[in-house]
Formats: sequence, C-alpha cells, structure tokens
Amino acid sequence: MIVTVTLNPALDVTYRVGELVPHGTHRVSAVGLRPGGKGLNVAGVLHALGEPVLATGLLGGAAGARVTALLADDAVPAAFLPIAGETRRTVTVADDVDATGFWEPGPPVTHAEWAAFVAHFRGLLGDADVVALCGSLPPGVPVDAYASLVRLAAAGGVPSVLDTSGEALRHGLAAGPDLVKPNAAELSALLTPAGAGCREVDAAAHALTCGARAVVVSRGPDGLLALTRDEAWRGVPPERLTGNPTGAGDACVAALARGLRDRTPWPELLADAVALSAAAVAAPLAGAVDPETYRRLLPAVRVHAA
Ligand SMILES: Nc1ncnc2c1ncn2[C@@H]1O[C@H](COP(=O)(O)OP(=O)(O)OP(=O)(O)O)[C@@H](O)[C@H]1O
Ligand SMILES: [Mg+2]
Repeated sequence: MIVTVTLNPALDVTYRVGELVPHGTHRVSAVGLRPGGKGLNVAGVLHALGEPVLATGLLGGAAGARVTALLADDAVPAAFLPIAGETRRTVTVADDVDATGFWEPGPPVTHAEWAAFVAHFRGLLGDADVVALCGSLPPGVPVDAYASLVRLAAAGGVPSVLDTSGEALRHGLAAGPDLVKPNAAELSALLTPAGAGCREVDAAAHALTCGARAVVVSRGPDGLLALTRDEAWRGVPPERLTGNPTGAGDACVAALARGLRDRTPWPELLADAVALSAAAVAAPLAGAVDPETYRRLLPAVRVHAA
C-alpha cells in the first residue's frame, strides 16, 4: 500500500456567501466540510483510483475528530496519531466572483508527540510500498522531520516522495528522497536570491545536487519537467483546463507515488501524472479527480526528452 503522511492536516471549511464585503457581516447560505491537507488529497485520489492506501499524520481535538469521521464517510483508510492540540481549520469564503482563504496556524506538537509519531510511522513501514510525505509542518515538529522520515523509510527499503516547501524541503532533500515534487515557485525559492530568474532545469539540477534522486517540477498548465542524473523529460497537457487547480499538484503526487511503486518508466509515468493532475483541475474539490477527463487526456499527453 501507499502511505501518505500529513503532519499538518486541517478541517477544511467552505462558507458560501452572496457577495464578500470586507468589514461586513454575512449570512452564510451553505457550509461545506472536507478533510484538508496535501497528504489527505493524495490519499483521496489514490483511493478513488482503487489503489490500496493508508493516510497517517497528526490529528487532535474536535476538528481532528471531525476529519477522522469525514475520512471514514469517504472510506479512506486512516491511522492518525492523536495529539493534545486542536487540528487547525482552513476556512474559504466563496462568493459568486472568487474565493478568499483564512488559514489557521497548526496546533503545537510536543517533543513526546513527535517521538510517538516517529515510532508509529516506523510501525507502518512494514506494509508500505511507498511513502508520500506532504505539506507543511505544524509548530513543534522539527524542521528536519521529513529528513528523519525519509531516512527511516529508506532503512526499511521503502521509497519516498516528498512534496513540501521552504526549510522543510531544503532539509528533506538532504536525506535523499527518491522523488521530490516542487512547483516552480517552491523550486526557485530553494535558490533565492541566487536563483532568481534562473532556468527551471537548472533549479531542478540544484535540487539533485542537494540530494534528491529525481525531481519532478510542476509548472501549472504547462505540465511537468522530470530530471534525474541521467534523464530529462517534459510532459505537456493536450489542453489547458478551466476549473479548480488547487490540489492538482496533489493528484500529480498520487500518480508519481503509484508509478514509483510500479517502477513505471518515465515517459509513461509523466503521461499518467499529467493526465491525472489535469483531471483534478476538472473536479471541483481538492482530493478528487474527474475520471472522464483522465481517460480522455491520457492518450493525448505529449511526453518528450528535454
Ligand atoms: N489549467 C490546467 N490545465 C491542465 N493541467 C493543469 C492545469 N493546472 C495544473 N495542471 C496540471 O497539474 C500539475 C500540478 O499543478 P501545479 O503546478 O499548479 O501544482 P501545485 O502548485 O503543486 O498545486 P497544489 O499544491 O495546489 O496541489 C501541473 O504540472 C499540470 O500538469
Ligand atoms: Mg503543491
């Protein structure tokens, strides 16, 4: 199975209003609740594809209990470690024009809770084919948390996919993850200020020198660039889709994790990741893909050596 790790998940709350007016009071016409967090989106996509998956991470308080219940409603297998702090909420206010987000900070995690999670993670590795490590770190979790998890997985013979940003990414790279999936902004931030304006392929090469075994850069509607020490590939969607691009990168990670498990060759793997992430744009909710778009686009994705 593929184990997805979400250390800073959220109860995702969407308020529907007629028109958002700053400093005004609003009557909310509908409230939507979803499990939120990148690893949970990856797990949702894999589950929808019928792939064996287990979602893990840290959950606490009433919001954490609600996330657990929502995952059970969707029949997504989950084994989260309970923590004392309250899982954050990510609130989106959607009106007829656009959406406005309010992201709460993550809960504080104690040293003992982090140590307990590391032991819990080690226990899950026996049944894992691949681990996907996704998203930000809550306060109290060490900045090299992903490096520790990558090393533990590797020691157990389990390959890892890392999708995070900033210092968590920088430290995680040093542990030699099998694959990292930054978007273009996350990748160039690794090099900033020296890398400002540098070519993506050079920034990806920098991530390889930092320790990653393969880098897949997601480039929004322009598709994917994959770089290893010996190979470079580009995958381009056959069309630019309109819809909800939030979570497209998570669908991409789902495809990459599955491909890593199956040792899929790069051209086929990139085609799959491009089609699946485009299918996520076509689905209204993050963590879901539109199966018809996936089927339609898969044979039409162009992949070529870069
Ligand atoms: N409008 C679009 N049309 C077709 N494919 C798209 C579109 N937007 C994104 N994609 C596909 O999805 C992939 C991932 O998107 P993106 O680069 O925005 O990821 P991201 O920034 O990590 O997203 P997130 O973290 O919100 O999931 C892209 O590389 C591309 O293949
Ligand atoms: Mg992303």
